[in-house]
Amino acid sequence: MRKPLVAGNWKMNGLQDTNHHLLELLKKEGIENIGEPVEIVVCPPFIYLAYIKHLLEGSNMKWGAQNVSHHSAGAYTGEISPYMLADLGCHFVIVGHSERRTLYGETNGIVAKKFVAAQQANLTPILCVGESLREREEGITERIVKEQLDDIFLHTDIHAFNKAVIAYEPIWAIGTGHTATPDQAQEVHGFIRNYLSEQDPEIAEELRILYGGSVKGDNAAELFAMPDIDGGLVGGASLEAKDFLTICQAAS
Ligand code: 13P
Repeated sequence: MRKPLVAGNWKMNGLQDTNHHLLELLKKEGIENIGEPVEIVVCPPFIYLAYIKHLLEGSNMKWGAQNVSHHSAGAYTGEISPYMLADLGCHFVIVGHSERRTLYGETNGIVAKKFVAAQQANLTPILCVGESLREREEGITERIVKEQLDDIFLHTDIHAFNKAVIAYEPIWAIGTGHTATPDQAQEVHGFIRNYLSEQDPEIAEELRILYGGSVKGDNAAELFAMPDIDGGLVGGASLEAKDFLTICQAAS
């Protein structure tokens, strides 16, 4: 049985006060009553991780990072190592978000190295994959997603997916309000699971595949009802306590 997961990607938003307020509101609205059936994670900017750890320790929310270096330590000015994230109690780290790929030039190869480095530090990578609008219109969505997965296999093997999460995030749905329909999302999620099950059916069956791209309180339930959608990677709506709570409830 796959345990649903909802992860909030705060991106480059929030300050100490607003972060504190958001987490207090989530607690006040009852996020801690959701209990065991859903795993809930927030991914704040790096600089707030220590503070978030302090606020969330002992709650049912976990914390993770939005990015990571593929190096473990050394002369890499401005970078954050996976061991530093683990040291701050992070369980998860997002790798290969489309904003990192398109705005900061992260290739499939770099993303694969980050995926492996995260696992070496005992973090669970949330590997983002997804196509652009042009790629969807050209009918090459599956090819793009397959390529994004295949680079991982140049660096490690299918067993790595025992401790990983995939997030399908079509770029055209991110921050646009144009959510993929449940059928559109399910089609790609099903493709991903089938593709990995060619290598190991059990690992593919246990793997959690999240959907991301304009997930909101009012569309989460229909997305999460699809057989291969195991939760969400949520951007904008993770900054709104009521919306995020509704999304977490929809996953439970
Ligand atoms: P939105 O939910 O704001 O569309 O962002 C999705 C996303 O990029 C999560 O990583």
